Amino acid sequence: MNGTKGEKKMITAIRTLLALAAALLLAATPAAAQRDRPPADPPRPAHILAAADLRPGLDLGGAWHWSIDPYRDGVAGFHGEPAGRGHRRFEDVVVAEAEAADPHALFEYDMARSPLVDLPSSWITHDPTLRHYDGLVWYQRRFDAAPRPGRRAFLRFGAVDYAAAVYLNGELVGRHQGGFTPFAFEVTGRLRDGGNVVTVAADAERSAFTIPPPVTDWETYGGITRSVRLVEVPATYVDDAWVRLTRDGRLAVTVRLDGAAAAGAPVRLLIPALGFALDGRTGADGSWSAEAPAPTGLERWQPGRPTLYDVEIAAGEDVLRDRIGFRTVSVEGERILLNGRPVFLRGVSLHEEEIGAEPTRATTPASARALLTEARDGLHANFVRLAHYPHSEVMTRAADELGLLVWSEIPVYWRIAFDSPETLAAARLMLAENILRDRNRASIILWSVGNETPVSAPRTRFLARLAADVRAHDPSRLVTAALLNRREERDGRVEMVIDDPLVPDLDVMAVNTYNGWYSRDPLSALPGFVWRSDHAKPLILSEFGADALAGFRDPGRMPRYSEDYQAEYYRQTLAMADRIPFLAGLSPWILKDFRSPRRQHPVYQRGWNRKGLISETGVRKLAFAVLAEHYRRRAQGEGE
Ligand code: GCU
Repeated sequence: MNGTKGEKKMITAIRTLLALAAALLLAATPAAAQRDRPPADPPRPAHILAAADLRPGLDLGGAWHWSIDPYRDGVAGFHGEPAGRGHRRFEDVVVAEAEAADPHALFEYDMARSPLVDLPSSWITHDPTLRHYDGLVWYQRRFDAAPRPGRRAFLRFGAVDYAAAVYLNGELVGRHQGGFTPFAFEVTGRLRDGGNVVTVAADAERSAFTIPPPVTDWETYGGITRSVRLVEVPATYVDDAWVRLTRDGRLAVTVRLDGAAAAGAPVRLLIPALGFALDGRTGADGSWSAEAPAPTGLERWQPGRPTLYDVEIAAGEDVLRDRIGFRTVSVEGERILLNGRPVFLRGVSLHEEEIGAEPTRATTPASARALLTEARDGLHANFVRLAHYPHSEVMTRAADELGLLVWSEIPVYWRIAFDSPETLAAARLMLAENILRDRNRASIILWSVGNETPVSAPRTRFLARLAADVRAHDPSRLVTAALLNRREERDGRVEMVIDDPLVPDLDVMAVNTYNGWYSRDPLSALPGFVWRSDHAKPLILSEFGADALAGFRDPGRMPRYSEDYQAEYYRQTLAMADRIPFLAGLSPWILKDFRSPRRQHPVYQRGWNRKGLISETGVRKLAFAVLAEHYRRRAQGEGE
């Protein structure tokens, strides 16, 4: 824009004043008023490929070459220009042949002669030098595919931590950010009959603007940590399908087709075991929604009787198949209702980390069942908090099968850039990817939008927007967040006050509390703590715990880090919890010791957070029996 110097100054001044006025208006507007605005349509990924893990396809797990690239030489040259030949790891070239053909060719990589590793797996177990690496690693493998005419092909990833760039036969097919949710890139027409080469740039680096930020209390398991599959579907296929029981007991279905024949297409919902069929036709936008009375004989899913049905959604040549349980969850005053009946959540928290001395965060059905049966059968639990990020679909399917209720969350954790539009966009998309992947999982009853985030107006607006997105994507479940409470002391009495400004946006309050571990309170004082909230909502104590090194016993002195201290901490904290009238559940921190770079006590921790009720190799500590007995008695009292 041209203009004299004075005019330019005037324009700048006006812009500054306008920006200031807007900021003041926004800041002045109470967060609640901000929240009354209906959210813009929540974001959706380009392709959902619902139940892709059950679709027939080519499993591209197994042997991949890997090449470390800490200075991102494969991305940009020494002045920042795009990487040149001889540096582009993703290039569709056989380096040995290129070198033989041109003695002057200079390559400073060769994927085909780089070491091999078995995927999925994080890279911290590829090689001891990668134990604490948080940078870029290139992966590559070759595969044959016989693309069938008239069908569409997708490369589908269960997750890549933290960011991924995917190349097929030397061409970029897509990029994804977020280490814990699935993504799919269409490669129709780009596959060769033989010798395709897929390359993935997996980059674990995070920033103040990512979800999560760089500082967390868990290990960064960088890399391709979940399945990679080539999935083929008809030209028009069922991209999204959601089948659930409504709170008034009707069966509801939402389907979205993708493809040239998506509009005005006949679709059918089938539940063969119930002899149930519902026919419809998609609208101009390719979607169909319908409701019908629930079929007679439908058994509701619940812990102890996790009934799952084979469900089919047929549309033209495509049939999407899933295994779905039907139940309802709601809140009534200070209680959580499952299928209309009050339920107390006897839970425990878990990270996504398999039992064993060298976990690599590659969840298998066996490793998922090992953790979940330890919770269900060992602790008499009916609930698990899958912290602090969306766990593998293998885990949520296992929870469906084993009958455990689930709290699912995205890693909006601690110090997030709450005033960054890019960070909000990343969080909203991650939330959508999580919900749209798992909203057919009966086990999931709670979507959480944050963990221990410092209270501020931008933070509350940010989380309120996420809570509104949850309701837009899935009004059938409950919204929560793990909050911190205030502590007040009056007349020698300790009061724990829950008055976080986000609570009005939540269905269920949740608080992480560590009195007696992160405070100097004597454990004997804990039962005397009084919990207070002005909100008549259910409360979950979403975390409490104490470190203990398995095998460290000292019943006489009960020093910190001893199993004896941890067991007494649980006894006293549970006695405190029993006195909270609006308590609806517990998910103590945590089932299993887990890797955390923040925990470096040379005697007790050595890079492990020791709050587990079992050690990293599965050895039960004294506190395990304390919680198990507490839950057994609760279950007995509830006639379970
Ligand atoms: C916090 C946090 C956890 C952490 C735990 C601890 O509450 O949510 O991620 O591991 O405390 O201090 O052990």
